[in-house]
Amino acid sequence: MNLPNFFETAFNTLIRASVDKKSDARNVVVSISDGEYPSSRIMVLREVNVREKSFTFFSDSNSQKCKLIELNPRGSLTVWDRKNNLQIRIRGEFVFDPDIVRYWNRLGDLAKKSYGNQPSPSMPILERWEYDNKPEISSFTVLKLLANKFDILLLDKEKHFRAVYESRDSWKGCWVVP
Ligand SMILES: Cc1cc2nc3c(=O)[nH]c(=O)nc-3n(C[C@H](O)[C@H](O)[C@H](O)COP(=O)(O)O)c2cc1C
Repeated sequence: MNLPNFFETAFNTLIRASVDKKSDARNVVVSISDGEYPSSRIMVLREVNVREKSFTFFSDSNSQKCKLIELNPRGSLTVWDRKNNLQIRIRGEFVFDPDIVRYWNRLGDLAKKSYGNQPSPSMPILERWEYDNKPEISSFTVLKLLANKFDILLLDKEKHFRAVYESRDSWKGCWVVP
């Protein structure tokens, strides 16, 4: 296993996660900052662009995370592929993808219900089900993390190994102690 192969292995895991509903790695821990504390939540990985090194997620445009990303677009992803004993940590900056219509039209009616809760997500309510759902494209947003660094760790039976890849190094990569 050399540095380029290891990077490719990680990308293959991520690509698979974005297309295979049963993949372990599909539910990604997405972290941003709320200004005071790290703020993490699980999100479904929807698309991977290998050339651009970008990772796409869907969300409600009125959610807290979108407000936080507007204030500070820096974020990170944490992925655990249990089958392959692989941890992938990705750092980068989020952008709001303007091409939401293409993604919205691909969603079925059930999937659209994940967007458009009223009042907005995180608003306090008196009873647990005291909210409505009106799926509308105006409540839908597409977030894309443009990666600048990957930290990949493989827990190998023989001996673990880990490498770091950064855009400023032209993604050449470097082995580091696990
Ligand atoms: C398995 C799982 C998958 C989830 N997928 C998404 C998702 O793709 N997009 C999303 O906005 N929230 C998703 N959530 C909900 C978020 O984890 C979070 O609770 C919600 O988006 C509110 O986060 P916020 O207040 O930071 O905006 C998912 C939760 C779970 C448990």
